[in-house]
Amino acid sequence: MNAHQNPVRIGIIGHPLTHTFSPAMHTAAAQELHMPLMYGTLDVGSEFLPALIASLRVQKFRGANVTIPHKEAVLPLLDEITEEAASVGAVNTIVNENGTLTGYNTDVTGIARALDSVHDTLRQKTIVILGAGGAARAAAYASAKYCSPQSIIVFNRTHNRAENLVQHFQKLFPKIVWKSVGEHETLARSVEKSILIVNATPVGMHPHVKASPLPFEAKFSNHQIIFDIVYTPLRTALLNQAEACGAATIEGIEMFIHQGARAFELWTGMPFPLTSARETVLKKLNESRKRE
Ligand SMILES: NC(=O)c1ccc[n+]([C@@H]2O[C@H](COP(=O)([O-])OP(=O)(O)OC[C@H]3O[C@@H](n4cnc5c(N)ncnc54)[C@H](OP(=O)(O)O)[C@@H]3O)[C@@H](O)[C@H]2O)c1
Repeated sequence: MNAHQNPVRIGIIGHPLTHTFSPAMHTAAAQELHMPLMYGTLDVGSEFLPALIASLRVQKFRGANVTIPHKEAVLPLLDEITEEAASVGAVNTIVNENGTLTGYNTDVTGIARALDSVHDTLRQKTIVILGAGGAARAAAYASAKYCSPQSIIVFNRTHNRAENLVQHFQKLFPKIVWKSVGEHETLARSVEKSILIVNATPVGMHPHVKASPLPFEAKFSNHQIIFDIVYTPLRTALLNQAEACGAATIEGIEMFIHQGARAFELWTGMPFPLTSARETVLKKLNESRKRE
């Protein structure tokens, strides 16, 4: 591609869209590749979602990102859904192929790639997932499909959502032992036994930066890995606590960059410039910290 071509048109669909780093990240990535790309914000409430999705075709958008609160509602409005997105029940990326809109879930790729260096460590071990929303379902799918754990234990504030999640994934991945836990003591024992703990809730996110998604004072060990998908702040209270115990940590920015990378690859067919994307997101995080 060169600068004389029509720009690749992308939008991010959500409501509200005040804190998204995606436009800056994708714009910087395209600039690095000298690719004309327009990445706009499409801030709409639920009542306008069907019309907006239809207009992506007419207005020749190459695709879109989808974020809160539309990741689930968008599914019936699309022409095709990948197996991953259907299993997770959420779409965060749309690709427009000559008027046919396909829904992907690149959060799954984001999580799988963030865990890339520890896949082998997780084999036949126990993983604990905190949360039962869209991100938790993406974490459940990614860890079941790519990490071959022995068991996956899910804890959620609303217990029946955790139970629904494990029943759903038990059918898809029957070789893995799926369990939901409700009691704090049982969760504490599960956390102790596990190799990886994933926070897939917003707890610890700015401005409540002192909050931990674990309802007790956890003592981690130095063979455990703690992955917090929250990335504002970059180092959450949970990650700091894990580090103080000598555990390995994975920051949410890894998932964010890799979900964006997969979306960019799908839209453009080009490899995503990870280094400059990471720099852009870190710069945006710094700017928003200074404003606080
Ligand atoms: N790093 C990344 O690239 C990336 C990508 C996607 C999402 N995220 C982050 O992941 C987080 C979750 O997103 P989502 O799409 O899964 O949201 P969601 O579908 O709304 O689910 C939120 C989950 O967190 C739980 N939760 C919410 N507030 C809580 C609280 N105060 N205490 C305990 N549990 C609480 C909810 O429990 P209930 O069922 O009881 O309501 C639910 O399980 C958000 O912070 C989002 O920014 C990060």
